[in-house]
Amino acid sequence: MIITVTLNAAIDKSLSVPNFRLGRRHRTVEQRTMAGGKGVNIARTLKTLGQPVIATGFAGGATGTHIVEQLTEESILNDFVRIRDESRTNTSVLDPTTGEQTEINERGPSVSEREVELFRDKLLYLARGAAIVVFAGSLPRGIESDIYAVLIRELERTGVTTVIDTDGEPLRQAVRAEPDVVSPNVIEAEELVGHEFSSEEERSLAVREIAALGPREAIMTLPDGCFAQVLVDGHPCMRRVSVEVRESIAKRGSGDAFLAGYIAARYEGRAPDQCLRFGVACGAESTARLGAGLIDPREARRLMGDVELSEIDLPAKV
Ligand SMILES: Nc1ncnc2c1ncn2[C@@H]1O[C@H](COP(=O)(O)OP(=O)(O)OP(=O)(O)O)[C@@H](O)[C@H]1O
Ligand SMILES: [Mg+2]
Repeated sequence: MIITVTLNAAIDKSLSVPNFRLGRRHRTVEQRTMAGGKGVNIARTLKTLGQPVIATGFAGGATGTHIVEQLTEESILNDFVRIRDESRTNTSVLDPTTGEQTEINERGPSVSEREVELFRDKLLYLARGAAIVVFAGSLPRGIESDIYAVLIRELERTGVTTVIDTDGEPLRQAVRAEPDVVSPNVIEAEELVGHEFSSEEERSLAVREIAALGPREAIMTLPDGCFAQVLVDGHPCMRRVSVEVRESIAKRGSGDAFLAGYIAARYEGRAPDQCLRFGVACGAESTARLGAGLIDPREARRLMGDVELSEIDLPAKV
């Protein structure tokens, strides 16, 4: 079993508004709502890929009920801690005439210490039947920034594989807790190491630097693939995986699709290079679909043929 953790789960509302202009009144021509938040998106893709997954996290108020109902409707197994405060709704407006997308993300509910404690108990219980736990996304209010770090350390003792995809301070603390895999995008990675990268060499050095902070393996995604320091037969190796950048309809959520593909392959026991290639194919495939976590598995498998992987010399120690 794979567990995805979404502490700041949401209802994602997507509106299609032709000729969208600030300060005007509009009518939507199309509108859809989906349960969201990074971990939820990853769970959706994993389910589509046929992997056993349970989505957990916090869900509160009427929006929380809506999140759980939507997941249940999609047959995505879920087990959320119900909280008093209301889960958030994220709104995105797509103007079909320009292709421009505007997003407004709410801050999210406030979570009490007692609710955090309930979640910790639930996660440790669920993890007993799991091979992989993935933590993804931002934190709601009232939660200490070290929560991912604390949970990763607790899970370490159970032997479950931990994967983390978040940003800012929670990421900084989580990598030091030595998770198995960390997968920031370029911006998150630049923030983590404290400077920008302008060349391929600097990018691979950055991944090396991130891996040196604590995680066993580090993957940095970018629109044309990823850089990754993975363990091959226990030895750290650097990989550059590339795919042709597509004219995308929906870039948002491609990192979630990447991670779901990577985890699905890893759960099946595939070799590290295969996991990276399938992740990149899933990320690329997802950009053709509006709606986070949506992919066509057959198309993703076909795309794997277009994904290139090269071994690069591990840059000198930093
Ligand atoms: N335009 C694109 N064409 C092809 N592949 C893409 C494109 N954009 C993203 N991808 C694929 O998706 C993966 C993740 O991309 P990226 O680093 O941009 O994600 P992200 O910023 O974490 O996204 P999010 O957090 O919104 O899910 C990459 O490994 C890449 O293979
Ligand atoms: Mg991401």
